[in-house]
Amino acid sequence: GVVVVEAYVPESLLTKMEGIGRQYEEYKQIKAMKNPIKAGAYLFVAVVTVMILFSATWFGFYVARSITVPIQRLAEATEAVAQGDLSVKIDAKATDEIGTLIESFNRMTGDLQGSKFKLEDANRSLRQTNVELDRRRAYIETVVETIAAGLLSMDRNGIITTFNPSGERILGLSADRIRDRPANEVFKEFGLEVFQAVYDRMQADARDDWSLEGQVDVQGKPVKIRLNGSRMRDEANKDLGYVLIFDDLTELIKAQKVAAWQEVARRVAHEIKNPLTPIQLSAQRLRKKFFEKSPDFDRIFDEATNVIVTEVGSLKHMVDEFSKFARLPAPQMARQSLNEVIQEVLTLYRAAHKDIDFCVELDDDLPVLNFDREQLKRVCVNLFDNAIQAMNHAGRVWVSTKYDTKRKRAIVSVADEGVGITPEDQEKLFVPYFTRKKTGTGLGLAIVRRIITDHDGQIQASNNQPKGAVFTFDLPV
Ligand SMILES: Nc1ncnc2c1ncn2[C@@H]1O[C@H](COP(=O)(O)OP(=O)(O)OP(=O)(O)O)[C@@H](O)[C@H]1O
Ligand SMILES: [Mg+2]
Repeated sequence: GVVVVEAYVPESLLTKMEGIGRQYEEYKQIKAMKNPIKAGAYLFVAVVTVMILFSATWFGFYVARSITVPIQRLAEATEAVAQGDLSVKIDAKATDEIGTLIESFNRMTGDLQGSKFKLEDANRSLRQTNVELDRRRAYIETVVETIAAGLLSMDRNGIITTFNPSGERILGLSADRIRDRPANEVFKEFGLEVFQAVYDRMQADARDDWSLEGQVDVQGKPVKIRLNGSRMRDEANKDLGYVLIFDDLTELIKAQKVAAWQEVARRVAHEIKNPLTPIQLSAQRLRKKFFEKSPDFDRIFDEATNVIVTEVGSLKHMVDEFSKFARLPAPQMARQSLNEVIQEVLTLYRAAHKDIDFCVELDDDLPVLNFDREQLKRVCVNLFDNAIQAMNHAGRVWVSTKYDTKRKRAIVSVADEGVGITPEDQEKLFVPYFTRKKTGTGLGLAIVRRIITDHDGQIQASNNQPKGAVFTFDLPV
């Protein structure tokens, strides 16, 4: 038997069945492909991983390089700077913080180099200045060492800082004994009262300079000293102390006297030779004519003896004048008015010289001073005579006195509008026997100068404006 069972299968189920059958077929196919697909996926993942690893490493290296290279350069450059080479420049390009660092480093070395150049420049000019200063100091020291005048300087506190060799010689004191010691103490110990006086005066009066003449005992011998004190100030007018310059007047006067007497001896010899020649010639002629028994012996005798007598007369006159000059009496000093003495002489001259106009200006403030009346009259007479002779006895003579309160001196001047003084005569005016006059002795001004220097004064001659000469002398008050 067969049993047939029929059952209706809906179409939708059929399609589903077909679908499932198809899916199953596909599944079977895919299942067969399973291994190759899996291997492919694994390969893909591996390749990607390797690529990622590689690029990460490369990137790492890249980044590391962009940091280490500039840092390496920086390290090298720092080393170079440490060795003193400031010209290093890092030219690595970077834009990040390292870039800023490099830029700052370059700027720093640049600045450092600029500063170094400036420093070197400053150093060089400083060295030059030092050399120049050294040279000047040596020069000034040499000047101080070699000047003939004595020099003593002290600082603001009165401590002696310099004492030059001339000072040592004049005062007979070695510098070691007084240097770096208080001036007051030194002046007292060695009896330098003039120095003390000048120093005191400058301190008390706040004066910038002061001069004084006085005596100092040098190894038991009196030495006449002229002392000039000055206050030292720097450019900012700050007080630096004092400098005292002094001269040995005894030496100076002695030297002047020797020079003057040498000149006198030379001129006297010359003057004596002049009349001697005609005397000798006349005597020789007389002898000759006498032995020849010449017929005109009488006439020649008269002539020759006349020459001899005249020439001997001029010799005698010269000797008289000379001894007058040589034997100038010692001054008789007294305190009196200089103006009065000048007026006295002027009265005589006004009466005797009608063609001379005396313009007189005497300072009423001039105090009485110490001088020899007769000698000062002689000075005036000589100066007035010279002025009148220089103008050929007609013209104006200006006479003035002035009181220099600062230097404490009387200043007298006699001016004329005569021929004036030529530059070559200027030096010789006061030398004994220098004259440009036919009948002059040339002793007038020599005597004048001698009197003035005996009175501790000085006399100078210069030219008057617009013409003529001026003689100016000063005397201590
Ligand atoms: N005021 C003056 N102007 C121009 N020259 C002058 C003046 N005073 C003097 N001298 C010149 O100086 C020279 C010397 O003068 P100093 O008084 O010594 O002698 P002297 O006048 O020639 O002679 P002495 O005084 O015996 O008459 C003069 O010869 C003259 O050349
Ligand atoms: Mg004269």
